[in-house]
This record gives sequence, structure tokens and C-alpha cells, in this order.
Amino acid sequence: MPIYKLNIDGAVKSVEADVDEPLLYALTDKLKLKGPKFGCGLAQCGTCTVLVNGQPIRSCIVPTASLENKSIRTLDGLAKNGQLHAVQAAFVEEQAAQCGYCANGWIMHAVALLEKNPKATDQQIKDGFANVQCRCGTQIAIMRAVKVARDKMSTAKA
Ligand code: FES
Ligand code: FES
Repeated sequence: MPIYKLNIDGAVKSVEADVDEPLLYALTDKLKLKGPKFGCGLAQCGTCTVLVNGQPIRSCIVPTASLENKSIRTLDGLAKNGQLHAVQAAFVEEQAAQCGYCANGWIMHAVALLEKNPKATDQQIKDGFANVQCRCGTQIAIMRAVKVARDKMSTAKA
């Protein structure tokens, strides 16, 4: 099986994978990350989301083999020096989870959106989460948390 070198959360990791094996398996089964989750496996729900060069991608359908020399960010690497990312902190503050299984997808999409545009409008936030699913119906609390994070991040950048 080929070995791929992946840049994950700022560290280079070697992973053995079949040529068409999705990144999600490398992250969860081989590297034992806890953030990305297997949901639908069909790019429909978003719970497997990671950022590749700053863009959210569905790791359940993207082959590991295509990701060498790209920067991969995961939920596991968001906190720095024991401090949660502003988006994570807002999700905790607003209690924006029921079972929590979907949280990875919402948080990673929010990080991508708000780091690029900390002054995102409510409409841009709404549009930024098309196709991210929560089966527990926690969307209202999630949107509240994203707006709290937006308000903190835009103040910090002002
Ligand atoms: S598990 Fe990847 S989008 Fe659902
Ligand atoms: S909190 Fe359970 S799926 Fe979203």
C-alpha cells in the first residue's frame, strides 16, 4: 500500500492508504483524530468536514492520495495553547449541541467562513451552511453560536 505524507494541523504525518481511500479513514482509523466523523459517507451531511488550504471539504469522498502538499486543518487542531478557537468557545457558551455528532461539520464550516470574513452578514452565514445537517434539530442554537463567534472575531480584528 502506498504511503502518503500529509500536513495535518501543522505537522507532517505519514499514512498508508489505498489510492482511492477517503481521507476520513486516514484521519479517524489511522491517525485516531476525534473531530471528523463518519455520517452519510456520500458528501451529504458535512460531519466529516476538514479544511484543505482553507476550504471546507468532505473528507468521506476525497482520496488521501490527492492531498499531499496541501494544508489540512481539523477540529482536533483548532485549540491553541489550551485556548479554544472563538468558534469552539461560542458553541460551548451557547450550548449548541444535542448529541454533538454534527458539531464538527458546523464548526469547521464556521471557521472557514469567519476567518475569511469576520464581518459576515447574517445572510452570508445562512448561505455558508447549505448542506450541513443536524438531525437533532439544533440549527437555531448553532446559528446563534456562529453569530456570537462572528461578533467576537470581528471585534478582535477591528
Ligand atoms: S460523512 Fe461526509 S458528508 Fe456525510
Ligand atoms: S446535535 Fe445531534 S446531529 Fe446535530
